Formats: sequence, C-alpha cells, structure tokens
Amino acid sequence: MEKTERISILIIDDEKQFTEELDYFFKNSNYESYETNTAEEGRKILSSHLIDLLILDVRLPGVNGLDILKEVKVQYPNMEVIIISAHGDMDTVIKAMRLGAFDYLRKPFRFIDIQIAIERTHKYLQLQRMLKRMEEKNSLISKSLEEKIERQFIGISPGIKEVFEQAVTAASYPDANVLITGESGTGKENIARIIHYSSARKDAVLYAVNCSAITESLLESEFFGHKKGSFTGAITDKMGYFEACNNGTLFLDEIADMPLILQAKILRAAEEKVITRVGDTAEIRTNFRIISATNHNIEKLVEKKKFRLDLLHRLNTIHIHIPALRERPEDIKPLLIHFVDFYATKFSKPKIQIAEEVFELLRSYDFPGNVRELRNMTERALILCKSNLLRIEDFPVKSSKPIKSAFKDKNQNLETTEIKMIRDALQQSSYNQQAAADALGIHRDALSRKMKKYHITIFKNKD
Ligand SMILES: Nc1ncnc2c1ncn2[C@@H]1O[C@H](COP(=O)(O)OP(=O)(O)OP(=O)(O)O)[C@@H](O)[C@H]1O
Ligand SMILES: [Mg+2]
Repeated sequence: MEKTERISILIIDDEKQFTEELDYFFKNSNYESYETNTAEEGRKILSSHLIDLLILDVRLPGVNGLDILKEVKVQYPNMEVIIISAHGDMDTVIKAMRLGAFDYLRKPFRFIDIQIAIERTHKYLQLQRMLKRMEEKNSLISKSLEEKIERQFIGISPGIKEVFEQAVTAASYPDANVLITGESGTGKENIARIIHYSSARKDAVLYAVNCSAITESLLESEFFGHKKGSFTGAITDKMGYFEACNNGTLFLDEIADMPLILQAKILRAAEEKVITRVGDTAEIRTNFRIISATNHNIEKLVEKKKFRLDLLHRLNTIHIHIPALRERPEDIKPLLIHFVDFYATKFSKPKIQIAEEVFELLRSYDFPGNVRELRNMTERALILCKSNLLRIEDFPVKSSKPIKSAFKDKNQNLETTEIKMIRDALQQSSYNQQAAADALGIHRDALSRKMKKYHITIFKNKD
C-alpha cells in the first residue's frame, strides 16, 4: 500500500453538538474536517473544497437526505458517502445504499464505530486512487508505445495491426521470449528492434546474431564465451553473446539454422539464465531476453526432428507472425508513400508525386521479396526518375512479369518457381550474387541459403 494520504471529511447533520463533537474528534485523528448543520451550507463547502468523504444525515429538516445523496453522487462521483439514519429506519438505509452510499451508521453510535467506518472508507479510497493512477500510467505507456511502433512500422491492414498489438505486448513484458516468423523481407528484424527499443531493456545491448552465418565450430564459444587457452586460437578470455546481452536482448536471426547440438545448450541457458564459458567451470548469471526470427516453417522442422520442440516452446512465449505483403495489398500504398518520402529526402529531391496507376500495378504484383523488394524498387525508381511524377515505367515490375505469371501458374509449385526466379536473376545479373539478390529483393545471405537449399551452383548454371 502506498503512503497514507490525508482524507477530507464533511459532516452534514442538523444537531449542532453532534457535528461539533465529530469535527473535533476527526481533527484530533488527523483528518481534514468540516461540519455544517444545513444542506445549503453543505453544498457551498462541497463546491469550494475537495471532499473525499461525506457523512450525511438523511433526516435533515426541510430536505430529503436521499435527494442530496443522489445529487452529490452525480456531481462528485469520486466522493464516498456514509449516511446516518435514525434507529429502525432500515428502508431509508436500503434506498441510500442503492443510490451509492458506501456505508451507514445508526444513531446513536460510538466514536469507535465511526472510526472503523472511516478507516474502511479510507482504505477503499486509497485503493481507488492507486488503481486510477495505475490505469492512467498504463494507458500513457501503451499509448506512446503504440505511437512509436506505428511510426516505424508502416501498415494499415488488419494483419499488421495485429502485429502492432503483439509488439506492444512484447515491449511491455521485457522478460518474455519472442519468436517472429514471416517470409524474407517482411520486417522481422525491424519488429525485433522496435520491441527492444520500446522495452525496459532499451538502455542495454541489442545484439543481433545471424545463426546461419557463424561456423559451427565457433558457435559455442561465440554464444558462451571462452577461457584463454581452452582451444587453439583462444588467446584471451572472451565474453559470449549471452553475457554481453546482460539486461539486454539477444536477437537470434535465422534461428532454424541453429545446429541441433547447440540447441540443447541454448535451451539450458535460456531456462536457467546461467552460463559457463567454454573451458571454464565458473557459473555466470546473466539476464537476457531472446527474440528470435525465422522464415522457415519451424513446426515442420520440429516434425523432421531438425528443431527441438522444447526449445521452440521456450522461444515462442510470444509468437508474432508477419504476413507476406501479397496477403495484405492494402499496405502497399502507405509503404510506397513512406519509401518515396524517405528516398526523396535522402537524395535531396523535391516532393515526388506517384501516379495512381503505379499503385494499381503494384497491387497486382506478388512481391516475393516482400517489403524489402518494394523498398529496393522505390529506391531504384527515385534514383532513375527524371520528373517529379513516378509512373509505371519507373518500376521494374513490368519486366519481371514472366516471374509474376509463373507464380500464378497453378501447375507449378512454389519451389520450382523460386528456383526459376533465382536462376533467372543470376543469369540476368551475370552471376553477381549481390546484384541477383537485389533484383530479387532479398538479402544476399538469404540468396546464398536458397542456392544451398536448391543446390544451385553458379558454375553449373553458367554453361
Ligand atoms: N512495415 C514496414 N514499415 C517500414 N519498413 C519496413 C516494414 N517492413 C519491412 N520494412 C523494411 O523492409 C526491409 C526488410 O525488413 P527486415 O530486414 O526487417 O526483413 P526480414 O523479415 O528480417 O527479412 P529476412 O528474412 O530476409 O532477414 C527493411 O529495410 C525494413 O526496414
Ligand atoms: Mg532478417
């Protein structure tokens, strides 16, 4: 319970001696107290002072106390009322309670009775005030979080609104692990960063690790650190990611590529929040949160025994799935406007208009590279366009139409289409992987992974 607050009491009763005695008693008990013998005077005090508790005699001469009760409950909804009734007048008591009186006392009563009633009211009032403050605080926190998230993650579709909501939840629970799934380029890393920087961990490190980019032999020492001399090359003591992320967030990108052997160790660290450096015995406590991301169907990998179910359960306390851009075409327009503004500012161009036909064209496109592809496409358009109006010609979607129609061909499965797209892009970019990745609108690492997955090697394709 928080610090006791002084409450203010007003007594309205027609017996002068009674109100004076009570007033004296309250003042001695360290309450702020006022007393009066008429309803009229009572109204005046109520309008000029902040009263927490009204002690009201319902049998005032010339006025119906119940009417006063009704009136003050409307005018001062946060004020509590204890009514005083004559002995045997239970009807009035019941009516008063129905009208919102907090408690009642029957005359004659002892000081101890009124003291108990007031203590009870006091506790209730304090609790009410605390709740109100907490509600205000919470609504302020989540409001500013929502605003922050909406500014950085563009989208108006119901799917993206749901992502916002989950991101707000994830930011408000800084100890819960988060798993973000979605196709390449949907904004998984973006959301991970937004969550970290909107959470209570924002002042500590956010460390992003691409699990598919670290060699297997080094994975353990990278995550757990090592002691000098524990293996060839360990020339100094080194801190691992878990330790470095103490009080912060460890972002595990491409989590599905984590070798099984390391998965068990990661699970233990995530459960116990205690690690031991390679070649050492000392236990080190570290308080990190894991946000992980994957564009694979991780449940399928669990079925194939390539991913541990217990680790998945540990990682997906909060699961955020970002839908592909083609599943939420209504986001294309706001995203395009956002990227056009962004690149226009970056390239010091004047305000650029977008022809309506561009939106139409893009809505019918599949965006295999999702938002990243749209961003890259916009950047290219802004660099190349000569006027202040972007037109269909500025977008390479047209030239990739065969790709689009391949997607629409129901007889071809997704994998065949993807392989064809990768081969085409490589061929068109003279086998420059970075250029091919850019044309596909995916990250270079993602292209390498896909090439590995589909056994596409550059030399085979070249002849
Ligand atoms: N809703 C969005 N609003 C603004 N920018 C976005 C949005 N979604 C994605 N982006 C931008 O698209 C690009 C790709 O996003 P990001 O790198 O987060 O994707 P990803 O899902 O992690 O992709 P991958 O699986 O290939 O790693 C980034 O530049 C990101 O800022
Ligand atoms: Mg990513």
